[in-house]
Amino acid sequence: MTAQIIDGKTIAQQVRAEWKERADALKARGITPGLAVIIVGEDPASKVYVANKVKACAELGLHSEHVVMSADTPEATLLAKIAELNADPKIHGVLVQLPVPKHIDSSKVLEAISPDKDVDGFHPLNVGALTTGNMRFAPCTPYGAMKLLEKSGVSIEGKHAVVIGRSNIVGKPMALMLLQQNATVTICTSRTVDLAKFTRDADILVVATGKPKMITGDMIKPGAAVIDVGINRMADGKLCGDVDFDSAKEVAGWITPVPGGVGPMTITMLVANTVQAAERTASGK
Ligand code: GUN
Repeated sequence: MTAQIIDGKTIAQQVRAEWKERADALKARGITPGLAVIIVGEDPASKVYVANKVKACAELGLHSEHVVMSADTPEATLLAKIAELNADPKIHGVLVQLPVPKHIDSSKVLEAISPDKDVDGFHPLNVGALTTGNMRFAPCTPYGAMKLLEKSGVSIEGKHAVVIGRSNIVGKPMALMLLQQNATVTICTSRTVDLAKFTRDADILVVATGKPKMITGDMIKPGAAVIDVGINRMADGKLCGDVDFDSAKEVAGWITPVPGGVGPMTITMLVANTVQAAERTASGK
């Protein structure tokens, strides 16, 4: 069996077109959705992600502000900037790129962002809302992964979904979103004893461990949907996922490539959350 490749680039374009229509409708009413992206420090990967987020906003005609702060910025200065953006009516979404430098308490930062502008969905109130099934902002990467499953026609209800990774950004919210769609969910980590026992039983396998090619074809249930959230740069400069694509695609029913799978969806869902935040402001909700 050769898996159907889930083309994240094409699906991201379709989803962006849907959200562009909604953004255009708001603009016709005089409201331009606006996103502020804050980066503190010089992390090269973060710089690329942030530049791509700002670029995506421009492509969809959204307003954006790119706030660049030096690595030694005091925590209080960052918190003051967040407070300013929370109060700015041109801004509907505020995002601080993670990780922040060690002297800054990331929990304090995430709690300072207004829950109504928290387009990452990382504020404890929004995490709680996701947990209780009243989601307001879905964290962008798992939201994008869920969209890929939906657009590829993968059924979730009643299926066994195994998520490897327990981060607040991907693993935990992904598990909650799958649970909300009535999957039976198992959360593993890269340290789970006899991991293959779990992965071989997964109808849907989501891998977010940051360990290159750790999931091989022999660990996958024939016909499973495999979502690879990993992005790892190899010694030869090429990107690869947490799944060994070549062996996995011979066994899986569906699989996301790296690059070109989950990656393009993350920024798309950020744009979606920003437009949604602006819609809520416009409707007073
Ligand atoms: N760092 C890695 N992924 C993310 C994300 O989705 N949002 C933010 N703010 N930082 C990140």
